[in-house]
Amino acid sequence: MHIRVPKDWELPESAVTPEGDYALRPRRDFLKSAAAAGGAALLPGALLGTTAGFPSRVNPAYRDPELKPTAYELITSYCNFYEFGTAKDQPKVNANRGWKTEPWTVEIAGLCRNPMKIEANDLVTKLGGAEQRVYRFRCVEAWSMVIPWDGFPLSKLIALADPKPEAKFVSFTTFNDPKNVPGQRSDVLDWPYLEGLRLDEANHELSFIATGIYGRPIPNQNGAPLRLVVPWKYGFKYGKSIVKIEFLSRQPVNSWQAMNPREYGFYANVNPAVDHPRWSQASERVIGAGGALGMRQKTLPFNGYGKQVAALYAGMDPRKLF
Ligand code: MTE
Repeated sequence: MHIRVPKDWELPESAVTPEGDYALRPRRDFLKSAAAAGGAALLPGALLGTTAGFPSRVNPAYRDPELKPTAYELITSYCNFYEFGTAKDQPKVNANRGWKTEPWTVEIAGLCRNPMKIEANDLVTKLGGAEQRVYRFRCVEAWSMVIPWDGFPLSKLIALADPKPEAKFVSFTTFNDPKNVPGQRSDVLDWPYLEGLRLDEANHELSFIATGIYGRPIPNQNGAPLRLVVPWKYGFKYGKSIVKIEFLSRQPVNSWQAMNPREYGFYANVNPAVDHPRWSQASERVIGAGGALGMRQKTLPFNGYGKQVAALYAGMDPRKLF
C-alpha cells in the first residue's frame, strides 16, 4: 500500500459530525437519507437499522467500555477501496456515482454440501438478522480506528454452507466490474480483489461479516453490502463487497500477497514486533484522536485479541504469521 501525505483540502479529522439519533427504516429509505442524517447512535440494547432495515442488537460481549468508537464521518470518508481510487477520500465519492449494491447476489461455492446463490438481504434473514459488535481496526499502513460493525458471525454462514471434510480454507472474492468501476481498469492490483482465511480462522467467534456500521446500512465505500471483518488481522484482509465465498482444500493467494509477497502475506496477523519492510508496526496513528496528525498509541499483538486467537497459531513461528 502506498503511504501518502494528506493534502490540505482533505477532511480534517476534527471536522466530524456529532453523533445523534436515527430511526429504524428500510435500507432503501436509509440510503436515500443517509447523507442528510446527522449521525448515528450507539445505544446498548437498542434496535439499529442495517441492511434492508434489519434490526441489529448491540452484543454486550463485544462492547469493551475502554474502546471509544471513531466518528461515523471518519469511518466512512477515510477509506481504502482501490477499485474506486487509491486516495483515502476517493471511494466515498466514486463508489456513490450510480454503482448499485442492491440487489446483490453472493455465491457460496466449492467444497461444501449446501452451495447456493443468494441475495444479500435474504442471506441476512436466513442467518437470523444482525448484531452489533465494537471492534478495533488496524490498517497495515499503521493507522487505526474503533468501529461499531453490524452483521453476523461468519461461523453462521459456514454452518449453513456445511463444508466438506476436505475444506481447509475459505476465499472471499470481491465483485468484478471493470466496465463501470474505473479502478478495475488499472493495474494497481490483479482484479478481482481476493482474500482468504484458514477454515478454523473463519470459524473463530470473532470473524464477522459486516452489513452495517453504527446501525446504518454499510455504505458503498466501506464494502456494501457484505464485507469481511477479522479484527486481529491487518485491514487488507477485510475483503469488501463480496460476491463469492468458496471453500477450498488449498491455501489461496490473496491479492496483496500476489502483488508483493515480500511485503504482504497470507496471515497478516497484527504484530508490533514485525515491521513492514518500509515502516515500523510498533505503533499506530489513531484516526480522529489528537488533532490532524492523530494520537499515536502502541500497537498490540493480534490487535489486542491475543487471548482469543493466539491458540489458532500454537506452534507456528510468529514471524511467519504476517
Ligand atoms: N476490499 C477491496 N475490495 N478493495 C480494497 O482496496 N482495501 C483493504 C480492505 N478491503 C480493499 C478492500 C484495505 S487495505 C483496508 S485497510 C480496508 O479494506 C479498509 O476498510 P475501510 O475503508 O472500510 O476502512
